[in-house]
Amino acid sequence: TSLGVNEPDFSAMDNDGLGNGRLWRLIFGFVFSLSVNRCAGYILKDCRISNGNAICSANKLRAVPRGIPASVKTVDLAVNKIAAIRVGDFVNHTVLAQLDLKRNNISRIEKGAFAALRSLQKLNLNNNRLAQLGDFFEGLSNLTELRLTSNSITTVIPSSLKPLMNLTVLDLSFNKLRHLTNVHYAIQHLPNLRYLFIKKIDITIFRSWELTNITVGPAYLDLSQNNIDVFAISADVFQNLTWLNIGGAPRKRKLICEIGEGTGLKRLTTLDIGGLHLERKDAAALFRSVNFSLSTLRMNAMKRNLRELLNMSCTIPTLTQLQLRGNRLQLLDSTLLRLCSSVTELDVANNRMQNIFSDAFRALQGLKSLTLSQNRLSSVPPAVRNLTKLLELDLSFNNISSLGCDDFAELRKLRVLGLYRNYISTINLCVFKDLTNLQVLKLQTNRITKLNGVFTRYLPNLRQLKLDENRITTIEKGAFEGLRSLQNLSMQRNELQKLESGSFVGLTMLTDILLPSNQIEETEITAGVFNDLINLRRLNLLDNRIKYRSSSALPEAPFSRLSQLETLAMAGQHGRGRSQLPRNFLQGLSNLLIFDMRNAQIVSLHQDTFKHTPSLQKLDISSNELTDISPRMFDPIHNLQSLYISRTSLRSLDFLKEANLTKLEFLQARRNQYSVITVEQMASLPSLVYLDLQGNGFLCDCDNSWFLQWMNKTPTQVYDAYNFVCNYPLNLKGMKLLDLDIQSCSVDVGFIYYVSTTCAILLFQLTAFTYHFLRWQLAYAYHLLLARLYERKYRDRQPNCLYDAFVSFNAHDEDWVYRELLPKLEEEQGWRLCLHHRDFEPGKPIMDNITEAIYASRKTICVISRKYLESEWCSREIQVAGFRLFDEHKDVLILVFLEDIPIWELSPYYRMRKMVNKRTFLSWPRAAQCTELFWEKLRQALQSTDNADGELLLLTVEDKG
Ligand SMILES: *[C@@H]1O[C@H](CO)[C@@H](O)[C@H](O)[C@H]1NC(C)=O
Ligand SMILES: *[C@@H]1O[C@H](CO)[C@@H](O)[C@H](O)[C@H]1NC(C)=O
Ligand SMILES: *[C@@H]1O[C@H](CO)[C@@H](O)[C@H](O)[C@H]1NC(C)=O
Ligand SMILES: *[C@@H]1O[C@H](CO)[C@@H](O)[C@H](O)[C@H]1NC(C)=O
Repeated sequence: TSLGVNEPDFSAMDNDGLGNGRLWRLIFGFVFSLSVNRCAGYILKDCRISNGNAICSANKLRAVPRGIPASVKTVDLAVNKIAAIRVGDFVNHTVLAQLDLKRNNISRIEKGAFAALRSLQKLNLNNNRLAQLGDFFEGLSNLTELRLTSNSITTVIPSSLKPLMNLTVLDLSFNKLRHLTNVHYAIQHLPNLRYLFIKKIDITIFRSWELTNITVGPAYLDLSQNNIDVFAISADVFQNLTWLNIGGAPRKRKLICEIGEGTGLKRLTTLDIGGLHLERKDAAALFRSVNFSLSTLRMNAMKRNLRELLNMSCTIPTLTQLQLRGNRLQLLDSTLLRLCSSVTELDVANNRMQNIFSDAFRALQGLKSLTLSQNRLSSVPPAVRNLTKLLELDLSFNNISSLGCDDFAELRKLRVLGLYRNYISTINLCVFKDLTNLQVLKLQTNRITKLNGVFTRYLPNLRQLKLDENRITTIEKGAFEGLRSLQNLSMQRNELQKLESGSFVGLTMLTDILLPSNQIEETEITAGVFNDLINLRRLNLLDNRIKYRSSSALPEAPFSRLSQLETLAMAGQHGRGRSQLPRNFLQGLSNLLIFDMRNAQIVSLHQDTFKHTPSLQKLDISSNELTDISPRMFDPIHNLQSLYISRTSLRSLDFLKEANLTKLEFLQARRNQYSVITVEQMASLPSLVYLDLQGNGFLCDCDNSWFLQWMNKTPTQVYDAYNFVCNYPLNLKGMKLLDLDIQSCSVDVGFIYYVSTTCAILLFQLTAFTYHFLRWQLAYAYHLLLARLYERKYRDRQPNCLYDAFVSFNAHDEDWVYRELLPKLEEEQGWRLCLHHRDFEPGKPIMDNITEAIYASRKTICVISRKYLESEWCSREIQVAGFRLFDEHKDVLILVFLEDIPIWELSPYYRMRKMVNKRTFLSWPRAAQCTELFWEKLRQALQSTDNADGELLLLTVEDKG
């Protein structure tokens, strides 16, 4: 904005500076705009892919990492420990446009290492250890910018840069090239070179013909910080040179200029001869060669005869920008600049000036920009009053403590006024009364305690007001009422405690307000305060003391009229105790896109918190002690794209499963305790492209095998996955999650087939074998088992006995049962009997029927004949009844033999044999003579209740044998 800043800005790749305008970007994080590239991702080791850029910087890498996706446009490998670039490091990167390798230890580059990079346009190798410019640039035919500053290059192989036929920028500064021939070797085959930087390459003699004989040559030549003794230019070279810097040398010796007549500095517009000691005749030769072309002259920190040099140079009629920094002028009198009438931009910063004569600028009637910063002025010098054409005035970094009513009296055209870094404590209303065109006023870093109504009337065109780092405690009602064009108001780092209702009245054009690092409490954020800011887009209240004690609704929401607000930053609220957010806090913010509530000591969020902000895209609630989040909280904000929940004590990501976050692309959840990531959680985020789980301790067992597999195949980029460590089980603590062997977790289908087929075959053989040799034993065991199963089923729901006895018999013996047994027992003795054919429920499985009948009866009478023993059902009845005996200690079984069967024939019916041996049976054939006794014994048997072992009643009709 001020003098002589015409030089090109090539610093894009190493731009570290922080402009004022970047504050918002800084505060709200680079990541909001991060629309991550879908096609690249996965779990790239040591790099992060964002927006088509691979960022692998500051990672202590010793080699170029493998697997950087071929689709990326830029690769940043700066600040690592890479020692060599090898063939194979960049094989597939045919679309790569920028490669940053600065600040590594690169001492060797293999021939052909860059051969595949045919789209590469910018290559930065600054601050490495290359000693020679060798022939390793083959293939870089599209390269336009090559930076090699601060290596140790001493030699250049003559055609090393020949492949770079499109190179326009070459920076070889800070190498020990020592002789221009080396530079000549480097540039001789670069027809398109326009910018040549050879700062401090230890040359002492510059003779143009040693560099080049071609007439066109570069347009920008930086030779600064070389200790040049001789500067010689022959005719007809550098015909395009517009920018030349030969200054900046810490030298004491004289510079001898040998400028050929009619030579080619004819187009030079910018010349820097800062710090040089030039004799009159040399200076005259130099200035003569640029007469009628030069517009910008920098003579900073000149060693001698500044006045003489000024008197010469100011005769150049085209000179408009003059920079005279660091010349220890101390005072500026009317003679120094008397010939500089064409100058419109003057920079006399850093000259220890305490005094400026009131007619010092009399000759400079066309002055538009004046920089007086970094001097020792204690008041605004009266000399500036007459500069009626002035557009910009910089008085920053002086000792000004007060401003007078007439200080800026005539500066009606002034647009930018810099008064920052002074000692101003009070300003009166009259000070800015004539600055009707002022657009930017910088008053930061002073000692202002009160606004004193200074902004209530004048400055109708002010767009930007900076009041940061003062000591303002209160904004009174209407304090900014006169600033009807104000768009940006910045009051960071004051001591603001009090905002009065109507503090911002009149600021209807305001779009940005910065109030971070003050002492504002929640009681000041009342409904009235912000109501006037109807055009506000960004409100920053970072680092204040806004803490609510309860989440209940406020009587009136504080931002209810800010419907245009897009960003609300409230991170870092401090003060004692925990905090809540009133559930209607965001009411009215229907266009809110970003809400930052990081580190505000919030302990819970009501599920209605975001009911009024349907447009929300980015939500940052990191670093709060939230133990729980209701998934319902996300219902109104289904457009959410970025969610930050790092350091929130949330124990799992399960809330995602129920939240409708189908558009979420970015999730940062660092340093929580998510030990297991499940398929359901990730399935609920179908749009996710970037997942950052850094610093969680993972469970290293099969529970995470899905997560491990997913990471390897998902298009979602899982940031830093290579550094995920196991936290549990203890024996694996500290191991890398990705090193976990999950082979054993997934079962091999082929193996299952093999095992099951083998088992089936073996089983079949076994069955065949047993059937053949052991079928009877098996059949018995089988029935035993079935009987046991059924018995278990019925044991517990034993109904009250429906029958006195269940009669089990074979169809062959039906005759006897119906003619003899039934009439006797049912009609004569009055028992209720259950008979197979009569009482079984039709349709029910026969086994169920039998078992039910046995359990529904007090006793079971088995009518045994040879046929009965051959029938499988009958023997099962005996067994079920047998189990009842065994389990309930109830002898329910009454055996009635219709035939004499020798004991040995009973042998498969093991239980029965035991009973027969114990003589607890009745034999019909043997009772043939006295049937009455037989029926009486049967009656007794039926009558008896519990006789555990059947010994109490001797049921034998007659003793055996
Ligand atoms: C080289 O750059 C030009 C313009 O920047 C571009 O059109 C061309 O496609 C590039 N060549 C390659 C091989 O990428
Ligand atoms: C330029 O020409 C001069 C004289 O003809 C010669 O000595 C010098 O080597 C040439 N320089 C280059 C860089 O070719
Ligand atoms: C530039 O040219 C003008 C007009 O011819 C002349 O008066 C002036 O002295 C010249 N300046 C220098 C530095 O040669
Ligand atoms: C989830 O959000 C989408 C829009 O993003 C909507 O179409 C869908 O109905 C929502 N589903 C539920 C269950 O709310």
